[in-house]
Amino acid sequence: MLKKNAKPPALSEEIKNDPVEFGRKFLRNLDGSPFEPHDGQIELLRNITSTTCACCGRQWGKSVSMAVYAVWYMVTHPNRQVYIIAPTLDQSKIIFNEIARHFQSGPLSVLVEGKIIETPFPRITLSNGSQCHGRGANSPAYIRGKPAHLIILDEAAFFKQGVIPNVIEPMLTVTGKMLHSGIIMISTPFGRGDFYDYSEAARKTTDGTMNFFRYSSESNPHVDRKRLNAIKKRYGEQSLIWLTEYMAQFVDADLAVFKWEDIKAAYEAYPGYSNDDGASVRFPLAPTEGHKYVQGVDLANVRDFFVSTILDITNRERLTLSRMDRLQKRGYSAYKGIIRSNHKAYNFAQTLVDATSLGESVVEDLADIRAQGYKFSNQSKYEIVQELSRLFNERRIAIPYNRDIIDELRYFQYEFTDSGNVRMEASQGHDDIVMSLALAAHLAAIPNSIGVFRGVDLTPQPQRVTLPPNYDPWAELFKDD
Ligand SMILES: Nc1ncnc2c1ncn2[C@@H]1O[C@H](COP(=O)(O)OP(=O)(O)OP(=O)(O)O)[C@@H](O)[C@H]1O
Ligand SMILES: [Mg+2]
Repeated sequence: MLKKNAKPPALSEEIKNDPVEFGRKFLRNLDGSPFEPHDGQIELLRNITSTTCACCGRQWGKSVSMAVYAVWYMVTHPNRQVYIIAPTLDQSKIIFNEIARHFQSGPLSVLVEGKIIETPFPRITLSNGSQCHGRGANSPAYIRGKPAHLIILDEAAFFKQGVIPNVIEPMLTVTGKMLHSGIIMISTPFGRGDFYDYSEAARKTTDGTMNFFRYSSESNPHVDRKRLNAIKKRYGEQSLIWLTEYMAQFVDADLAVFKWEDIKAAYEAYPGYSNDDGASVRFPLAPTEGHKYVQGVDLANVRDFFVSTILDITNRERLTLSRMDRLQKRGYSAYKGIIRSNHKAYNFAQTLVDATSLGESVVEDLADIRAQGYKFSNQSKYEIVQELSRLFNERRIAIPYNRDIIDELRYFQYEFTDSGNVRMEASQGHDDIVMSLALAAHLAAIPNSIGVFRGVDLTPQPQRVTLPPNYDPWAELFKDD
């Protein structure tokens, strides 16, 4: 039923059949200006077919364009079910909220039936019987068996292997033959997996049932070009991060220190990730009585972030990242305060702090919590990063689905210097999350921090941690230049 005295917007045949014209006529940007899709968006919006794969760079306009398509679809197709699915429920709300925004004011608001629902799952109902829902792919119980007409998968490359073909595609079994029914997978690339396979199939298909598109970030005319150029310059045109995140290419991540499938496994193993109550992944995790924690701290220099990482090491076979504080430009006294309060809150977590240059005095100031220092050289850095990489490889660590964490791990790379040595990617992008995590993991690997299940560990601690002897051939390459 339409709202009292409300006049539904008039839809010409052209608008009914064209999401682009529809968007121009009815939708507005956040700043209130009329919506005008850019060339790539026009091409994509006019070529959606029953399976559409779009591999796009960061900030290309994925969320904006998918919202436009979904709104057009709902308004012009009565009695249809639209699902926005992302790796987590929270992420599905990005597109969902953009859709909701278009219905909250302006000519389309009269079409909304009742209120827009936010919990437990977001939902919009229109007076024409169409509905839009948001879901996280990590809770298959809340997707399975739901009939859908249009399914939009945001960040499809991050879905758990098998979920798209086994859980999501079957949602279209009954409805898939109807006009404009189908599935849209849109994502930045991430390794090989279902999204890659569908994209490859779509690329090779010529019968009109599948379409594949690839758009770089640079093809969005609204993107902050200065920022983009700075990123390209900082990482290099051939870097993994530039090619993947911004050029939207499926590249081989051979030079990535943390294997991409290991990173996926680590976030899929996080407590609550695959739970069936539909709740979001909880992060940070509150301290649990009787659990044993360690804290790793990477101190900020001028450009970097301060990062404190708390690892739950109660179960040696599944270390769990419980908390991460990441901040910038606060000064050492604030940082020390955070280190102390984390130490205390997390059952007097043993603490290892980056003691390179100025860090040394910070460690001394933290004598009250018996923090230990770790000096970074090329070699020592390499060693603890390898330790961390091995934990991932052995699937002994769980991290939350948090893109800051995941992305820094994904793009942490070996780099060859002019002198032929190998160096971590420290001079370029950020490595503070990885380093604080590696410091915490290093503590977890030291025997005396495991198995002492007391609140306070009163055994004398060495000031400096001695590393195990070199254990792999790569280490030779990491001599300091
Ligand atoms: N047609 C358009 N007109 C005006 N601005 C646009 C248009 N398309 C995208 N933008 C702007 O470009 C930016 C990126 O858009 P959007 O958030 O949709 O990209 P995305 O690909 O989803 O980004 P992310 O990689 O962060 O998920 C936003 O500021 C958005 O407002
Ligand atoms: Mg987006």
